[in-house]
Amino acid sequence: MITIIPGSNRANSTTAAACRYIRDFLAATGEEAVLFDLKERPLPFFSPDQTFSGNPAVAELTALVREAHGLVLGTPEYHGSLSGVLKNALDHLPDGAFAGKPVLCVCSAGGALGTSALTHLQAIIRTVHGVTCPHWISIGGHVKQFGADGAPENAKLRERIDAACRALKDLARRLRPAESL
Ligand SMILES: Cc1cc2nc3c(=O)[nH]c(=O)nc-3n(C[C@H](O)[C@H](O)[C@H](O)COP(=O)(O)O)c2cc1C
Repeated sequence: MITIIPGSNRANSTTAAACRYIRDFLAATGEEAVLFDLKERPLPFFSPDQTFSGNPAVAELTALVREAHGLVLGTPEYHGSLSGVLKNALDHLPDGAFAGKPVLCVCSAGGALGTSALTHLQAIIRTVHGVTCPHWISIGGHVKQFGADGAPENAKLRERIDAACRALKDLARRLRPAESL
């Protein structure tokens, strides 16, 4: 299973639109893909002083990340970095939740590229012992339209997303413990 977390709580978020397209692409290629929507299931602010195991949204997200053999993390570029909504979600996850798992990063930016947020996100993935996918997806301000079918209107962006999804699936297959195949 691949778990997808769009790190935006904005209505009509293009980060979320890209993540929904990725979910649908993965499903169409035979991969179980689940999207956890932080707008519909907002998480409390993380605090090390509190226990959140009784919070249903935190528990569900934790289970979805633990069960996943691959992940997609989406974020809008905010002030040259990832969104607070995504960072807060990552702070809730227990040690080891990402260990050895491939992670594809997706960013939607107002400018031409979202590579600053993507770079910061990849540094976080390294820190939690995840494996960054060799592809990443940067959605610039000029190609942020998604059609009624949910697909990017820009053909080159669509091709890049499709290729990144295939690379994630391939990496997930290679990294998966043999007994679970
Ligand atoms: C608080 C805030 C900070 C932002 N900072 C940047 C930025 O540093 N660089 C950039 O290119 N766009 C920036 N933007 C624009 C968003 O990255 C852009 O609109 C993005 O597509 C939003 O994604 P969404 O559609 O998922 O909400 C910022 C937007 C907000 C609300």
